[in-house]
Amino acid sequence: MREAAHGHGMRIHSSDNCDNFMNKKRLLLFLWCLSAAFSALADEGMWLPSLIGRQVDDMKAKGFRLTAVDIYSVNQASLKDAVVLFGRGCTGELVSPEGLLLTNHHCGYGQIQSHSSLQHDYLTDGFWAMSREEELPNPGLTVSFLVRMEDVTDRVLAGVKDDMDETRRQKKIAANIEREKERALKEYKGQKGYEVSVESLYYGNQYFLFLFRTYGDVRLVGAPPSAIGKFGGDTDNWMWPRHTGDFSVFRIYADADNQPADYSPDNVPYRPRHWFPVSTAGMDEGDFTFVYGCPGSTREYVTSDHVARVMVSNPNKIRMRTERLDIINAAMAADPAVRIKYASKAANIANAWKKWQGESLGLERLGTLGKKRAYEERFARWAAGQPEYAGVLERLRSAYEAGNGASYAADFYTEGIFSIELMSLANYVTVALEAGEMPVVPGLFYKDYEPEIDRQVACALVREFAEHVPAVFMPDGFAEGLAEAGGVEEYVGRLFDRSALADSARLAALTALPRKEAVAALTADPAVEFYAMFADTYRQRISPVLEEADRTLAREYRTYMRGQMEFEPERNFYPDANLTLRVAYGAVEGYNPEDGVRHLPVTTLEGIIAKDNPDIYDYDVPDALRRCYEEKDYGRWAVNVGTEEEPYYTVPVAFLATNHTTGGNSGSPVLNGDGELVGINFDRTWLSTMSDLEFDPAMCRNISVDIRYVLFVIEKIGGAGYLIDEMTLR
Ligand code: ARG
Ligand code: ASP
Repeated sequence: MREAAHGHGMRIHSSDNCDNFMNKKRLLLFLWCLSAAFSALADEGMWLPSLIGRQVDDMKAKGFRLTAVDIYSVNQASLKDAVVLFGRGCTGELVSPEGLLLTNHHCGYGQIQSHSSLQHDYLTDGFWAMSREEELPNPGLTVSFLVRMEDVTDRVLAGVKDDMDETRRQKKIAANIEREKERALKEYKGQKGYEVSVESLYYGNQYFLFLFRTYGDVRLVGAPPSAIGKFGGDTDNWMWPRHTGDFSVFRIYADADNQPADYSPDNVPYRPRHWFPVSTAGMDEGDFTFVYGCPGSTREYVTSDHVARVMVSNPNKIRMRTERLDIINAAMAADPAVRIKYASKAANIANAWKKWQGESLGLERLGTLGKKRAYEERFARWAAGQPEYAGVLERLRSAYEAGNGASYAADFYTEGIFSIELMSLANYVTVALEAGEMPVVPGLFYKDYEPEIDRQVACALVREFAEHVPAVFMPDGFAEGLAEAGGVEEYVGRLFDRSALADSARLAALTALPRKEAVAALTADPAVEFYAMFADTYRQRISPVLEEADRTLAREYRTYMRGQMEFEPERNFYPDANLTLRVAYGAVEGYNPEDGVRHLPVTTLEGIIAKDNPDIYDYDVPDALRRCYEEKDYGRWAVNVGTEEEPYYTVPVAFLATNHTTGGNSGSPVLNGDGELVGINFDRTWLSTMSDLEFDPAMCRNISVDIRYVLFVIEKIGGAGYLIDEMTLR
């Protein structure tokens, strides 16, 4: 991100490669060979929609054909009116005047799962409402539209003095924020669904108010079978070439006046101010695209000490997850019943596990640590004469040094001890007891629980903890307990043998005792005691250190961020992601994952069929899709990737682009220069994931499902082509 010099010059577009491919199969590669030479400049940054005007000239030069007001306007309909925060951490987009919404399959997964049962297994078979009446309500699921955003820095910082101590400062700011929120909401008194948040940008140097309108009646309309929506599973997660049809379809409902309303059968489809027209023209390498969505969290302006911490933390977290995955995967391979129980858990563990590996590799390869150190030296020289900035790097460094030990140990709590499933159960029981309630036996937990797997995981994680955590951060008596038991196996064995929590029948028997006895027995349960020992130590010795260090970091980063902006006045700083709406733009483009290897930016149905293997769970193509392929039944979604004389038809599936995205961007609309929907964002390549700390234009790629594959699946696999009639196709 900083020195943008690396990258493009090094690329070799060998025509040999193309020729070889052409001999094998006449796919899209022909197009790629033609267009690879014109690769557009990749772009770093996630921009605030209301300030996009500063970016628009650059966007236009690269192929954007609309205006800043088209992207964001308060007074007239604009693209922002078709983008929502979906649930608590995804993005979705409106594609019809009747409230039809697209997001990822992995974003709607919980809802699809919750409607599934043995009678109708929508995860396996897919789900398609064939009429409005068949759409399924989802209590708790909301979507939020941005009504407007506003720079409120002056009002939030009113009365804040430079010499205030941090606690008083934060109090003053919190009070000002409350007042701002009230002011913003007053206008909408008596109207449903308005919500407001004030978010800090640039480490508290700027504050923006975001006014949202939240709708709570969002119904499931359709989802492909997991063998399409999650095709490739964890094998392909974060990977390219990719063939995942990662989408699902919902509809927003409102009351008769188009206002937010709780679920009611009387509600009607929401009429959006804007919905995205869908382009079926397809994208070529080099074509401009932009992503409009809600990126969750990035840290682009941190110091080398932060990077150093990540590079210590990642390997520890990765190793602990590897151990868990080895145990779980072996058990899953040995027993199909265990496979079903642990599939989703394994997917969750594997997601960040793979991401961290890519991140560490990327930081290593880019030399982020060294670059940051060199930058800091230059900054320090510049800052030396300026009282406002001199010494800020030293103060940041001391804050990191003060927190490093606790932070190191914290990983062995969160990724270690607290990742033992029995501990999440102990936490649940503890919370219930503390609230004066009798815990209910959690059937959902036990339905998917194998104590034997958990015992093995616990052995591995307790061993990690014992070997790595310095004595000061260990619970008192832990080392002695371990020694007394005669080793980790024995120690963990006792815990699992003696705890009633490891077995639902025993827990049920305990909770059925007279209240007083039950409370006493639960409080004295070995798992509950074990959990308390670690949770208390964490609360007493780790949290206070981390919180104190974080307070200092917050204060000093505020200064350092401001300093960096003054130090490099010509650089265009975009605020770190914080789940607020952003625009990222770039171009459809492949990349070189390693020397001599080129990844093309487009995949097709051909790749799905090539991966097809009924014996491999992740690659078991549904029969309906196999049939389409055999009969070349692609309807209007067929694309000729051969030549005019010798046509060869297939369906495009996924594409790569250079847009700067992160977690939370899943489900985001991927748009062409005219603001038409060409894809749905769902992932990055694992080699991109250091973009949360340093974006590398040569390597960082977001992955989208091609909208034509989405439409093909809706029509040909789902038989729900009537949904497409609602959309505006171009
Ligand atoms: N890697 C993507 C993201 O971070 C997709 C995760 C869901 N898919 C999976 N196979 N676990 O959200
Ligand atoms: N898969 C991520 C998400 O769910 C996107 C990413 O990390 O690129 O938001």
